[in-house]
Amino acid sequence: MTKSKGNPLRLKGFKILLGLTGGIAIYKAADLVRRLTVDYGAEVQVVMTASAQKFMSPLVFEALSGKPVLTHLFSGGFVGTRHISLAKEADLILIAPASANIIAKTVHGIADDLLSTIILAGWHKMLFAPAMNVNMLENPATRTNIEKLMKRGVSIINPGEGLLACHDEGKGKMASVAEICEAVEAKLLGQGLLTGKKVVVTAGPTREKIDAVRYISNYSTGKMGLALAMEAKKEGAQVTLITGPVSLDIPRDIDTVKVESAREMLKALLNQAADYLYMSAAVEDIVPEEIIHRKLKKEFLPNVIPVKKAPDIVSAFRKKFPDTKITGFSVEIEQGKENSLYKMETKGLDFIIWNNPETEGAAFGHDTNEVTVFSREGKEWFLPKDTKRNIASRIIKITTGTGA
Ligand code: C5P
Repeated sequence: MTKSKGNPLRLKGFKILLGLTGGIAIYKAADLVRRLTVDYGAEVQVVMTASAQKFMSPLVFEALSGKPVLTHLFSGGFVGTRHISLAKEADLILIAPASANIIAKTVHGIADDLLSTIILAGWHKMLFAPAMNVNMLENPATRTNIEKLMKRGVSIINPGEGLLACHDEGKGKMASVAEICEAVEAKLLGQGLLTGKKVVVTAGPTREKIDAVRYISNYSTGKMGLALAMEAKKEGAQVTLITGPVSLDIPRDIDTVKVESAREMLKALLNQAADYLYMSAAVEDIVPEEIIHRKLKKEFLPNVIPVKKAPDIVSAFRKKFPDTKITGFSVEIEQGKENSLYKMETKGLDFIIWNNPETEGAAFGHDTNEVTVFSREGKEWFLPKDTKRNIASRIIKITTGTGA
């Protein structure tokens, strides 16, 4: 059993639209982009105003973000509603440095360039890091504008005090890169459905050894489990993924415990107290009665290999942890509902998710799935065919009682 420790790529999977406006503090934005992409793993799309480009070249930010920097509302090669899709796709719109001008324009709903138009469309997910001269900041117009933004629910990272670029002393220095990163993290992770919760996900098949080179297994690839782990992470949970042998690209920020057999999975799982368990592993039901530790010669292969049932992992977990919300999976072709409900009852699950491998694009191996979720309380949700990530997101909403 090998355990790989997670790392700080806590914002992997998040899309940040970083708006840069004109101000000398823009030099800090270069480091900010590097931190958000390299250290936090976020995807950053930079948008620069005309004044911002007088201070620094878009080239710097293209190199650091790995994406073209957007500067014009009406540039060619894009569909006319790009400002809407950019606002929609972003999980957060961060303006750093935020000039007095962009703050004023935001308050009044002025949309006369690409950045201000994106802001108008994405106003509900904004974070501003103001940076300006102390007199501009203390001007009643700016002060009132910042207050108005805060009243509308826009988050502001307070500027610090010190010697300003214009040699004045006072308030107006843009917050440090570390402070901005912390605010971004709090905004993105602090409001997740699973913030502060421990989530364990099991994924993939198990392999039950017959001899040194042969095993019994199944077609599970672990894709559904990984999708659940990534969505739970996105919702702010502390996630542990216990996975059987899979060939998936598991993000480094997900604590991963790699196991092979059902017995190893059971042992790993019983070490994990959790608020939520998503048992998406296709634990192999058939285990050879004894493992032969050398390779059986072809000439001496037995006609019959005695097998026994694998330990029922989820039932054992339930016995040890009566309070965990457990979601199990069932792969059923016939009488799916009846069999799934029976499993939920006998294994002590709170939810069970039925996938039918005979449905096109569902269950083992696909990047898509189509499932029905049943709850202990007798509720039922049909989730039509969609990507496993989207299905995972809906499963998390249902199982945390926050919608579907
Ligand atoms: O195999 P079965 O259909 O009974 O599995 C339903 C649920 O129980 C799944 O969530 C599966 O991961 C889990 N399971 C288990 N231990 C087993 C077999 C299945 O925990 N030995």
